[in-house]
Amino acid sequence: MTSFKKEFKTSENGKVFGNVDGNRPNMDTSAAATSGFASPDYGASSPLSLEKEDGEGLDNSVRPPSFDEYIGQIKLKENLLIFINASKKRAARIGHHDLDHMLFFGPPGLGKTTLAGIIAKELGVNIKITSGPSIEKAGDIAALLSAVSNGDVIFIDEIHRLPKPAAEMLYPAMEDFKLDIVIGEGATAKSIRISLPRFTLVGATTRAGLIPSPLRDRFGFTARLEYYGANELVQIVTRSARFYGTGIESEAALEIARRSRGTPRIANRLLRRLRDYMTHLKKSIITLDVAKFGIESLGIDETGLDSNDVLFLKTVIEKFGGGPVGIETIAQAMNDEKDTLEDVVEPYLIACGFIQRSKKGRIATELAYKHFGLTKENPENPLF
Ligand code: ADE
Repeated sequence: MTSFKKEFKTSENGKVFGNVDGNRPNMDTSAAATSGFASPDYGASSPLSLEKEDGEGLDNSVRPPSFDEYIGQIKLKENLLIFINASKKRAARIGHHDLDHMLFFGPPGLGKTTLAGIIAKELGVNIKITSGPSIEKAGDIAALLSAVSNGDVIFIDEIHRLPKPAAEMLYPAMEDFKLDIVIGEGATAKSIRISLPRFTLVGATTRAGLIPSPLRDRFGFTARLEYYGANELVQIVTRSARFYGTGIESEAALEIARRSRGTPRIANRLLRRLRDYMTHLKKSIITLDVAKFGIESLGIDETGLDSNDVLFLKTVIEKFGGGPVGIETIAQAMNDEKDTLEDVVEPYLIACGFIQRSKKGRIATELAYKHFGLTKENPENPLF
């Protein structure tokens, strides 16, 4: 099996771009390779290791390395395979793939980074990973783009947080594969235009609405990632448990699936914590009892709401009479960040039907009251 090496390229200002290129093993001399294609072989069972894996196992990431192993997002997967296969066919004629730029949006933890890695692997090209907040100025984009090889995938996470000058530098790069660089200052400043190799930009965002429209318009394909169903999460948890070498009862996998807010990242994190409870309880596999004990100890309720979700709902119901109340006010009352509430906490509460957004602010629904054994008419519970 080919070893998988994660490299980091450091630009002049010290910013790090993850370069998940697997050290370009097995460069073959086939038509594809001679026409400018790398054919990295990460090994049949080697997982793709990307920069943003949370928690443990950075290099032993549980992320699926191929569409075959990627569970869920079925329609999106089908579409991506069609686009990739068509691009590969064209590449056989023109010498390089020309896959359009793609934008993935949706709540965190649903697999946007993973998909970008799989796309690069399916195309047999390198991927360079960075994120909006780590790019400070247009020069950072220039440094990133000048390091691409023909066909590479560039992944920019949280692309809505790119500073304006950096986003503007991307426009000609995405459209014409040109980089406009200004040399010098003031009256002597000169603009030169540099040609770039063909690349595919994959952008990811939790907030599609915050992407400036000239940037949004330059993506040839935009897709929303959906929350996963319980069946899909059971399959993901079972696969991950196998990956970690941990036995798990099917009922326990279902329990994790039900409490994971439709999100693989949360399901895998919960699985890792339950592995700890399994050891603590001196069990050899994760049984349903281990799962129940661990989930209870972690303060996750039967719908998968954690203490922060509950605090959000309680704040709206108890402190603001069920709303409408603005998100800034809720953030202040919770002593939390507005962006975190909007990106991470709120989307699932909306998907569950606990919170509604209106022009005047957030409103707790009847369902939210019912969840705590309350009604709008009787919003107080001595046990609450
Ligand atoms: N691990 C995290 N997300 C996954 C997915 N969609 N399929 C399989 N394993 C995963």
